[in-house]
Amino acid sequence: MDADRAFGSVSVPIYATAIYRYKAFGKHRGFDYSRSENPTRQAAERAVADLEGGTRGVVFSSGMAAVSAVMTLFRSGDQILCSDDLYGGTYRLFERILKHCGLRFAYVDMGNPRTVAKRIGRRTRAVFIETPTNPLMKIADIRGVARIAREQGILSVVDNTFMSPLLQRPLALGADVVVHSATKFLGGHNDLIGGAVVTADPDLGERMHFAQKAIGAVLSPFDSWLLLRGIKTLAIRVARAQQTAEIVADFLATHPFVRKIFYPGLPRHHRREVHFSQADGPGAVISFELARQSAVPRFLDALQTVLLAESLGGVESLITHPSTMTHADIPPEEQAAVGLTPSLVRLSVGIESPDDLVADIAQALRKAGRFR
Ligand SMILES: Cc1ncc(COP(=O)(O)O)c(C=O)c1O
Repeated sequence: MDADRAFGSVSVPIYATAIYRYKAFGKHRGFDYSRSENPTRQAAERAVADLEGGTRGVVFSSGMAAVSAVMTLFRSGDQILCSDDLYGGTYRLFERILKHCGLRFAYVDMGNPRTVAKRIGRRTRAVFIETPTNPLMKIADIRGVARIAREQGILSVVDNTFMSPLLQRPLALGADVVVHSATKFLGGHNDLIGGAVVTADPDLGERMHFAQKAIGAVLSPFDSWLLLRGIKTLAIRVARAQQTAEIVADFLATHPFVRKIFYPGLPRHHRREVHFSQADGPGAVISFELARQSAVPRFLDALQTVLLAESLGGVESLITHPSTMTHADIPPEEQAAVGLTPSLVRLSVGIESPDDLVADIAQALRKAGRFR
């Protein structure tokens, strides 16, 4: 991260300005209007680009704004092949807005590149991958799918929100574009809504910057600063949360009131090898199904240290009920088709004491299932 050039301040200053005074007619200092460029935002953009191993980072006012900017690369009639278990908000954008603008979306299991290859048609222009997926933790084969995309002359886009660049760097695996909800691990403190797009392709980088300026969904100077501050502790937060998540996953895996658990850190995860061939760890998000759907409300209400809230990747442990919260906009039959059941909860492990977390989850499971 660059220090401030004027005074050497270690924390990048918050340039809370909309405009910049021109040096003279026709001459500015590289900044004219903060929707186009802002020094604090630029510093955040350099940081995310460096983390992902890209050459250009562009940050937005939300993860959804970042995904929207990527979609400006496509035209009416183009088809985008997507992971079949996407974050509900991404699905909503695709199905309820962009479909009406003529884009087409098809959903496929990205774990098998050969299946993906078969689904690429004349109008397919990109693959849009989430891995692990939200919330079922399905694993895509980034290398394999990106290679096929390249062979077919189409783009590969990876939403890397769940792993963060600390654990997975899709550009190095062959992907063209990475997107993030910076609201999650990058920001890390549940205090900002933001998004990022990173690429190593100068033309794509320029087009993303143009989309940012043209659409105007920019990250504010203050939120850019929060993002920079969050990134300073990304490595220790992710390491700690992941370590704790492994302890929690082991506890859940043997609990009689947990029917199924979805976490690539466990030996039973069906694409564990693929995951570990492309990521440096299992991450800190665990989804699991309770043995009885009717016990879900009791379980969620009984939790005290773990907060019932709609996000992930922050220092606080959060739990959500995807089918009625984060993924409520996906029709029930489509939720069922991919295996998202009302018994499923998604836990994002924070940096609290592992003992406190396990104790909290244990007492809530006891209350929910009346286990002793
Ligand atoms: C995987 C994934 N991508 C994108 C988003 C959207 O990000 P935001 O909420 O910052 O708009 C989310 C939000 O939960 C997400 O989980």
